Amino acid sequence: MSRVVAVANQKGGVGKTTTTLNLAASLAVAGRRVLLIDVDPQSNLTSGVGLKGQAATAGTVYNALTQAEPLEDARPFILKTRTERLELVPADRNLTGAEIEMVPLDRREERLRVLLASVRDDYDYVFIDSPPSLGLLTLNALVAADAVLIPLHCEYYALEGLADLWGTIRRVRGALNPNLDIEGVLFTMFDERTNLAQQVAGEVRAFFKEKVFRTTIPRNVRLGEAPSHGMPVIEYDPKSRGAEAYVALAKEVLERAAANAATS
Ligand SMILES: Nc1ncnc2c1ncn2[C@@H]1O[C@H](COP(=O)(O)OP(=O)(O)OP(=O)(O)O)[C@@H](O)[C@H]1O
Ligand SMILES: [Mg+2]
Repeated sequence: MSRVVAVANQKGGVGKTTTTLNLAASLAVAGRRVLLIDVDPQSNLTSGVGLKGQAATAGTVYNALTQAEPLEDARPFILKTRTERLELVPADRNLTGAEIEMVPLDRREERLRVLLASVRDDYDYVFIDSPPSLGLLTLNALVAADAVLIPLHCEYYALEGLADLWGTIRRVRGALNPNLDIEGVLFTMFDERTNLAQQVAGEVRAFFKEKVFRTTIPRNVRLGEAPSHGMPVIEYDPKSRGAEAYVALAKEVLERAAANAATS
């Protein structure tokens, strides 16, 4: 059984791409087959696996989402990465125009879900990295997903943005994807020594309860450096605190999946 996870938070720079890349790579190294989908016009995920500027045989995610009719075969949009078992549907700058180009299209919110149906069972996990907005691209990610993973940078404005994201999740559940689950809330660039981080983390835990991951991601320069070398941190510096944190997160994700499977 495959699981499609959208990584979303409309606040910029909270660690969505870093989390998508490094959680996915840690799962791939642990033997899982993983597909990455980059639906952010910034294409940071595509760069992060060293495939900046590259398109698959049928193009990029832009071409996959903006045809007159919804496309049903994702295979011609998939590239291999240097990491075994880790593959990617790349993005490029064209995607900037997609939000507008998609407006008149039929089933515009369901394009990604339709596309993924053809390949999701080839993978254990599919991770979708979304842009810092709640527009049509993020909506496509949330409609295509079984669950949403929310990276959160624990500072004052984190809570403000969370209300908008929660509203969007509720609307998606009400309309196009009633079973959308919360995969988890992840504290990124987390410094437990600051009072503010402690306080915000406390409030988030009060609301999301056991949905908050036990694992937290510390600030670690290696996590910032790895993408410029086009590789996940587990390959760039496997002994770094950043790599260890994402390996721990991957373990926690697998434990949760096993616990859910046991109860259902
Ligand atoms: N735990 C961390 N330690 C140090 N640097 C980090 C960490 N997590 C992310 N960064 C850095 O912070 C910046 C923002 O991270 P990232 O690109 O993952 O956020 P994002 O939410 O995807 O941003 P955007 O909203 O623009 O897509 C990047 O330069 C990244 O390398
Ligand atoms: Mg990003």
